Amino acid sequence: MADDLSEVLYQPEEIEARVKELAAQIDSDYAGKNVLMVGILNGAVMMMADLTRAMHEHCQMDWMAISSYGSGVASSGVVRILKDMNAPVEGRHVLVVEDIVDTGLTLSYLLDNLRSRNPASIEICAAFRKPEAVRAQNVQVKYLGFDIPSDFVVGYGLDYDGRYRNLRGLGILDPKVYSG
Ligand code: IMP
Repeated sequence: MADDLSEVLYQPEEIEARVKELAAQIDSDYAGKNVLMVGILNGAVMMMADLTRAMHEHCQMDWMAISSYGSGVASSGVVRILKDMNAPVEGRHVLVVEDIVDTGLTLSYLLDNLRSRNPASIEICAAFRKPEAVRAQNVQVKYLGFDIPSDFVVGYGLDYDGRYRNLRGLGILDPKVYSG
């Protein structure tokens, strides 16, 4: 897998250290609140697993699946719920856990949807954020791992055509892989 990267952006240890910092911040902000962490499948699985295990406070985990990208590298603009959460959101402190915010389209749709279910609060935690999301300002990421360049990246849960999610670091996928 590593041979398909044109550049390694973050080593596993760097991600681990940053995730621990975020966990400490979340522990302190949500102390005694039994935060409802909502992971967005499939990309957020690694972040959710590492984040929650670095926490000391109680939390609950739930999952949603949303389609945003097809199997390629460009945003399709299509957002739809493929799998909803099991837990009711009303009155809960919700923290949405996402792998990466690119255009912010997926999350802004999701936030509107979750807000209509009357949570006590709702915030976003994302492992990575691209410049487009900063420019568009349609979503505020309260707990962010790293700001990264706009290149197509893989690893730490992020895939290309279903592959590379299990790469432990984060790297830029060599365009030769998808340009054929
Ligand atoms: P957005 O709606 O444009 O913010 O896209 C968010 C979703 O697109 C993420 O949850 C990822 O699944 C996917 N995505 C965006 N950028 C990348 C990337 O560089 N590599 C892999 N998936 C990406």
